[in-house]
Amino acid sequence: MMGMFMHFLLVLLTILVLIQAQQDDQSGFISLDCGQREDVRYSASRTGINYRSDANFIDTGESKRVQVKIPKSAVKQELQYVRSFPSGVRNCYRINVTSGTKYFIRATFAYGNYDNRNQAPQFDLYLGVNLWRTMYSQLLKQSFATSTGMIYTPPSLDYIQLCLVNTGNGIPFISVIELRPLNSSIYPQYSPNSALLTKYRYDLGSINTTDSVVYRYKDDVYDRFWKPSESPSDYLRRISTNVKNVDQSLLHPYKPPAIVMSSAVTPVNASAPLELEWEVDNVYDQYYFYFYFYEVEELAANETRIFNIIQNDELWFGPLTPLTQPGPVQPGNDMFLTGEKTYRFSLFKTNDSTLPPILNAVEVYQVKDFSQSETKQDDIDSITNIKKAYRVDKNWQGDPCAPVNYMWEGLNCIPDGNNIPRITSLNLSSSDLTGKIDSSFSKLTMLEYLDLSNNSLTGPLPDFLIQLRSLKVLRKVGKNKLTGLVPDELLERSKKGSLSLSTDDNPGLCMTESCGKKSSQSHVPLIASISAIIVVILLISLGFWIFRRQKVMSTNSKKRGSLESKHQAFSYTEILNITDNFKTIIGQGGFGKVYLGVLQNHAQVAVKILSLSSMQGYKEFQSEAQLLMIVHHRNLVSLIGYCDEVEIKALVYEYMANGNLHQHLSVKNTNILKWNERLNIAVDAAQGLDYLHNGCKPPIMHRDLKPSNILLDENMHAKIADFGLSRAFGNDIDSHISTNPAGTRGYVDPEFQRTGKANKKNDVYSFGIVLFVLITGRPAIVREGGETIHILEWAIPIIEEGDIQNVIDPRLEGEFSINSAWKFVEIAMSCTLANAVVERPDMSFILAELKECQSLDMVRRNYENTGTIEELVSLATVSDTTISAR
Ligand SMILES: *[C@@H]1O[C@H](CO)[C@@H](O)[C@H](O)[C@H]1NC(C)=O
Ligand SMILES: *[C@@H]1O[C@H](CO)[C@@H](O)[C@H](O)[C@H]1NC(C)=O
Ligand SMILES: *[C@@H]1O[C@H](CO)[C@@H](O)[C@H](O)[C@H]1NC(C)=O
Ligand SMILES: *[C@@H]1O[C@H](CO)[C@@H](O)[C@H](O)[C@H]1NC(C)=O
Ligand SMILES: *[C@@H]1O[C@H](CO)[C@@H](O)[C@H](O)[C@H]1NC(C)=O
Ligand SMILES: *[C@@H]1O[C@H](CO)[C@@H](O)[C@H](O)[C@H]1NC(C)=O
Ligand SMILES: *[C@@H]1O[C@H](CO)[C@@H](O)[C@H](O)[C@H]1NC(C)=O
Ligand SMILES: *[C@@H]1O[C@H](CO)[C@@H](O)[C@H](O)[C@H]1NC(C)=O
Repeated sequence: MMGMFMHFLLVLLTILVLIQAQQDDQSGFISLDCGQREDVRYSASRTGINYRSDANFIDTGESKRVQVKIPKSAVKQELQYVRSFPSGVRNCYRINVTSGTKYFIRATFAYGNYDNRNQAPQFDLYLGVNLWRTMYSQLLKQSFATSTGMIYTPPSLDYIQLCLVNTGNGIPFISVIELRPLNSSIYPQYSPNSALLTKYRYDLGSINTTDSVVYRYKDDVYDRFWKPSESPSDYLRRISTNVKNVDQSLLHPYKPPAIVMSSAVTPVNASAPLELEWEVDNVYDQYYFYFYFYEVEELAANETRIFNIIQNDELWFGPLTPLTQPGPVQPGNDMFLTGEKTYRFSLFKTNDSTLPPILNAVEVYQVKDFSQSETKQDDIDSITNIKKAYRVDKNWQGDPCAPVNYMWEGLNCIPDGNNIPRITSLNLSSSDLTGKIDSSFSKLTMLEYLDLSNNSLTGPLPDFLIQLRSLKVLRKVGKNKLTGLVPDELLERSKKGSLSLSTDDNPGLCMTESCGKKSSQSHVPLIASISAIIVVILLISLGFWIFRRQKVMSTNSKKRGSLESKHQAFSYTEILNITDNFKTIIGQGGFGKVYLGVLQNHAQVAVKILSLSSMQGYKEFQSEAQLLMIVHHRNLVSLIGYCDEVEIKALVYEYMANGNLHQHLSVKNTNILKWNERLNIAVDAAQGLDYLHNGCKPPIMHRDLKPSNILLDENMHAKIADFGLSRAFGNDIDSHISTNPAGTRGYVDPEFQRTGKANKKNDVYSFGIVLFVLITGRPAIVREGGETIHILEWAIPIIEEGDIQNVIDPRLEGEFSINSAWKFVEIAMSCTLANAVVERPDMSFILAELKECQSLDMVRRNYENTGTIEELVSLATVSDTTISAR
């Protein structure tokens, strides 16, 4: 810890040399007053921020005025108007930015009964193709205005799209959009494909508690909202200094407002710790915590203030002293915390400190996966040109292909090898197109299906269409008045059958050979190709295309240092004692029976004994022992010790009180696993597997994943077990040739069986089957009347009919959210796709998707209990933070 301390001292010295004038201008600020008249620009009275109308940033929506009188505490000109979106499912702002710049982006909503309905709507907010958050009506009702903020760096595009999506619960609206460029060295992140959502930002010990003043620009050069904390408990007291005494040069580079840093809280009882506690909705969410310290008291020569920060009973940071620690504390540059239901921070003064700890301000951000890719830029440009050229009258807003639910009408897309969506089908039939065929069509290079029928197009069928190498169907039937020759090459492809060309009812159009006659055979390949298209469309709607570029974070060393890594060696006699002479069998592992045991400290353990008849078994025993001695993860079962004597070979594990997943799903079990429990188990297992695949070097394949190898502890947390068949494989080669086929029937990847080539996508397949078993409650293989039916043979046809209800375990009696069920099924399907290497996603991606699935389910269950209100502009209200001292 001393090392860290020194490091900060050094940083401090550099900062002192680099004293800069506080940046005061609004350079790079984008401040839009939504719904304001187009020409209006003004400087807000309280903040001096220069607002302008949003009219140049969006084509749709209506301007409305709020009806409710704006409360005094929130008198703000920018809240008087809203832009509402009565038509179209998705409406998007397009705002130019500097790509690669880190932005603080904030959207503000003040309903103010603008529609005279007294019913705040509920809708989704997207940043580009990624869901930012749902704006719940309870949240919008809670106070006059609600803001939500995030930190995001647009990776490559020089604009962002902010989209409001109508989810059928009222008309979306928005009041203010604000973008603030940040110094890119602050708020570093583990994964570039993510955003940080503001959860809390508190000015503790706020001086101005009486009227809930939120400090922002110009106090804060980055215009963050600093909310006063609730009145501190009896255990805390406020301390402060005159703001003029705050040395702003010490506040680089996060630059919290001097006014915020001029006050702090400290325990009344000088020897007690200062404690903070956060309860979170989802233990799997990832959080960044920032603590700000600045000394506000004048210390006498014999006084010191030094303290440590303990997080859930472990040292998180310290020792530190506020004099040398002005900026926020964040141990490790890109470390987030995850896996806790409650985050408890205790600030303890050290023994040689004479003064108790203090805390001036705190920020909490939640990591949000933003890895969904935008459509390929060339395709976006082409389709946008087509939209412009023909003034296409459809709700074509936002990204053309993503997210898949809001794909533009008439389009279909498939992701390319880098999981970037490409436009493959365009149906502009009956769309009132007039004029010539635009050259932009030829730039949709992945287009396979183009339907321009029943329009009033004129001119020739241009040569540039031959650039569409993948084109399989071209329909121009009816009404169009195209003239001239069909390009030779298209005709040639049509003859060979690789292109279906239908040109009926274009009397002026001449197919070279059959000029003037109607071609009848052109319909035959058309039908064939259309059915191919339908297959493609089906696959797309089944979530085929969740394969996106991106690489989510690996679970590697996310949290703390390594766990206890010593393993005890037991003697034969000890094993006899521990298992009470092999009294209770609790299972059957890969290479022998598993017995219940009790250690001297009364801890229960599971003892797996190698059956002596098994030669193969000894190899597996060794691999498992070797592996478990080096890998440690909370979703892998952990090894306590082993016995490697002549008489007996045994492995001693932690005891998993709730047995294995297979037992829980069996028909005999009456205690049915609930939907959210199944999701949690899937996420746990995915975390374990992701760790093996992406957190270990070299990566490790499990090779025998199945429900009986997924164990459950007393809290129903899942851990993967049975590593007897596991193999590490070279880092740069993703696969190796396996000499002995491994695995369990029903779970083994057919591709591996066929080729004998092993790679980590085999585990992905087995994991997919485990997901199907979780979803359906059926075994992987069912024997019916002498026939064996694999779970995929049974489930896929039902899913393809769109009949999800009949796939889900009937024992759940409909107790699940349909959205999360679809997503769960889509993930399972993607894991089991035929082409292992190309099509099946990586575990890191599957993990991220499963977490999303979990939050969809959470939305259902926590509908009433949103509890995560950020940055309320006025009327500071509830929060689930408690700050106290013992
Ligand atoms: C955004 O940038 C594009 C191209 O760089 C430009 O044509 C457009 O006018 C800009 N939009 C606004 C609102 O500044
Ligand atoms: C508290 O806020 C009010 C207005 O919001 C302001 O007039 C007053 O000066 C503030 N008090 C302090 C101590 O900053
Ligand atoms: C960003 O912060 C770093 C570290 O304090 C500093 O060196 C750099 O000059 C800052 N950049 C800007 C543009 O202010
Ligand atoms: C002050 O805190 C210390 C440490 O938590 C505790 O032992 C002591 O009893 C407290 N004193 C009072 C007066 O509460
Ligand atoms: C520090 O010194 C002052 C007098 O100079 C004395 O009153 C005070 O008790 C001392 N404090 C400590 C913690 O020793
Ligand atoms: C601090 O004091 C306590 C109790 O007096 C003692 O148990 C502990 O070891 C001390 N810690 C250090 C680092 O000296
Ligand atoms: C193409 O669009 C037209 C008009 O919107 C529609 O009638 C037709 O069914 C669509 N074709 C396909 C294959 O979806
Ligand atoms: C052709 O388009 C018109 C509108 O443009 C529509 O009314 C008509 O039903 C369409 N005919 C066919 C066969 O799709």
